[in-house]
Amino acid sequence: MIKVNDNFCKLPAGYLFSEVARRIEAYRKAHPDAAIIRMGIGDVTCPICQAAVDAMHRAADDQLSEFTFHGYGPEQGYAFLREKISEYDYKKRGINIGIDEIFISDGAKSDTGNIGDILSPDCKVAVTDPVYPVYVDTNVMSGRAGELCDNKWSRIEYLPCTAENNFVPALPVGNPDVIYLCYPNNPTGTTLNRKQLAEWVEYAIGHNALIMFDSAYEAYITDDDVPHSIYEIPGAEKVAIEFRSYSKTAGFTGLRCGYTVVPKSLKGVDSNGAEVSLNSLWNRRQCTKFNGASYIVQRAAEALYTPKGQKQVRETIDYYMRNACVLREGLTEAGLTVFGGVNAPYIWIKTPGDMSSWDFFDLLLAESNVAGTPGSGFGPSGEGYFRLTAFGRYENTVEAVERIKKLKF
Ligand code: MLT
Repeated sequence: MIKVNDNFCKLPAGYLFSEVARRIEAYRKAHPDAAIIRMGIGDVTCPICQAAVDAMHRAADDQLSEFTFHGYGPEQGYAFLREKISEYDYKKRGINIGIDEIFISDGAKSDTGNIGDILSPDCKVAVTDPVYPVYVDTNVMSGRAGELCDNKWSRIEYLPCTAENNFVPALPVGNPDVIYLCYPNNPTGTTLNRKQLAEWVEYAIGHNALIMFDSAYEAYITDDDVPHSIYEIPGAEKVAIEFRSYSKTAGFTGLRCGYTVVPKSLKGVDSNGAEVSLNSLWNRRQCTKFNGASYIVQRAAEALYTPKGQKQVRETIDYYMRNACVLREGLTEAGLTVFGGVNAPYIWIKTPGDMSSWDFFDLLLAESNVAGTPGSGFGPSGEGYFRLTAFGRYENTVEAVERIKKLKF
């Protein structure tokens, strides 16, 4: 029989959101009349904006003519989109990122999962805890995580983020080579301000560490002191890779498009001690394993940068942030302690009393027919917390809050 990659066998049975979906489905089957409000996985509910849909219609028509038809595109993405990103997402914030430092992809999930391809299997990894499970699971798959004991991987350094430290992780003590940071944070919905993020950049510079900075939720930032990009911090271009996504910004969870910035000044070292450009390695990886996001989808992403697109995207984000406000205020009134939801579309709830995350999941599902995500699924420090997303329909969000209020905590 074929030998398999043992690292995959080490993974717990189900990916977090598949497991949540499985349990909701089991409940639905047992209670076919229950009107379940799903606030678990952070999937969007607003339609794609008109500017992007119009662009896709035009791009689809391009495919009808031999003169405008597009086959294989550049593996790095079309210049028309990379130019917009460079100008709008970076130059407008005073950051100089060239188009050859931007790689378009089918989303941040793939890129944050695949980026480990270009790093040594010996690299030591640190993650904030709780954490988006893709960072951990993909490091398990590539053999960097060690063994699982007591819900922790032996070679991964966990940096707890709880109410006790105001969700601001302490700097690592185990000299990790790679540090995953996601801000605004998934799952806690909390942020790091400029000064706090600068400490991480300084740490990475001083310790030769590489920061994987996931800023998939940057469009939800409302406070001026919260950086949208890690490159707002001087020196970050020497120590950080940044991941962005149109999923949460513009509802592309089904369309699939995002991008990764690998600055040219970012260097690694091979086992002979020779300096290597991470930008060149990622380019080589993408050219071999990826044929680019589709032309039609990239045209849709380009349209988001037009004045019409920017306005429509903003309206959708405001819609979700109104939900976040409803959740924060309503759940507080219900007697729960809540975090996040100010610069992010996630609400992080402290479970009442000593209730475990999964017990709270069961309680809300059974008593309110509201489905969320248990905090413990995001890591050991997520135990005793619970996540709801603000990506639902407004009416459902209001209804969910009303139902939860009846539980009297
Ligand atoms: C989440 O719910 O954490 C996200 O939707 C998952 C993802 O972006 O892959």
